[in-house]
Amino acid sequence: MMIAAPASVAEIQDAHSQASGAATPLLRVQDLTIAFPAAVGREAEVVSSISYEIGAGEALGVVGESGCGKTMTSLALMGLLPPAAQVDGAIWFDGRDLTKLSARAWRSHRGRDAAMVFQEPMTAMNPVMRVGDQIAEVLVRHEGMSKRDGFSRAVQLLASVHIPSPERRAQDYPHQLSGGMRQRAMIAMALACRPKLLVADEPTTALDVTVQAQILDLMLELQEQHGTAIQFISHNLAVVSEIAHRIMVMYSGRIVEYASVGDLFANPLHPYTQGLIKTLPEMGQPGSDLYTIPGTIGGKRPPGCRFSNRCPLADAGCRQAEPALREVAPRHYVACHKVN
Ligand SMILES: Nc1ncnc2c1ncn2[C@@H]1O[C@H](COP(=O)(O)OP(=O)(O)OP(=O)(O)O)[C@@H](O)[C@H]1O
Ligand code: SF4
Ligand SMILES: [Mg+2]
Repeated sequence: MMIAAPASVAEIQDAHSQASGAATPLLRVQDLTIAFPAAVGREAEVVSSISYEIGAGEALGVVGESGCGKTMTSLALMGLLPPAAQVDGAIWFDGRDLTKLSARAWRSHRGRDAAMVFQEPMTAMNPVMRVGDQIAEVLVRHEGMSKRDGFSRAVQLLASVHIPSPERRAQDYPHQLSGGMRQRAMIAMALACRPKLLVADEPTTALDVTVQAQILDLMLELQEQHGTAIQFISHNLAVVSEIAHRIMVMYSGRIVEYASVGDLFANPLHPYTQGLIKTLPEMGQPGSDLYTIPGTIGGKRPPGCRFSNRCPLADAGCRQAEPALREVAPRHYVACHKVN
């Protein structure tokens, strides 16, 4: 008798799409692995065989501690990984595999198909170019607009992200704007060519709490208006759950849990996710100390499950084999030996 090999997440997702008659998702990441040349004290593989998808207009939240591979995953979608990075697997976007693109095709993909906003807009903006001219430049490059039309459109875009006096602000240099306003300007620039996917890497982390909330509101509003799909990254589960339909929890280069926001909060299955939920202030008792997950992500990975040196449930079996990501309820995936 033949024993069927366990289905991969990609195969299960294929079966779901076929069963529900759903259209092909906008983005499908299949067994993506990102590695760097070996160096002392550093793991070579920073992202290990991850598979996930984003439907058109869907918001996916990616959450996990510093160093778990969130930014590397995002940079891979944009063709912006450091040159030394080795990429394996496939990134299907709108029917083509991005890992096969030429440098020229990547340049046309960026900005037009997918755009990215970063934690610190100053790293993405040109400090010696007026904000309006920078946005206009994107429109000149991708849409063939004249500089003059591009600039008028830039002013409209600044107004659409609720920047007061947009005509005046379009004449400013990035350093003349406040942090929150710079972030709005970068979002306007990212949305200039109406990309199908917006990748937002910790876009609110550097801002104070009130401005953070305003930027999240803005992203929600734009997503509803334009139906842009979003991959939203944060180390903060509370922030991610404000915006995402589905959440992917990463730990040490792997996806450990992947579910809708509702399922993840109602029924968190991975001990790491359970820990993250416990760290949220509103989940603790008033006045009680905030729970923190013991240990840190750094250092050498333990054998078997990568979370085994921090997991309260770890046993010898956990240290022997790495758990695969399995679908344990409809579209609820988890990688833990102890979850049935
Ligand atoms: N150029 C590089 N060469 C080798 N390893 C790298 C390089 N850049 C980053 N890394 C490693 O890749 C891993 C993943 O980094 P990444 O920036 O994706 O983490 P992150 O989840 O975005 O963290 P943070 O929350 O701090 O932004 C880290 O362990 C980091 O040390
Ligand atoms: S496999 Fe074991 S160590 Fe890993 S998360 Fe599950 S219980 Fe913890
Ligand atoms: Mg990062």
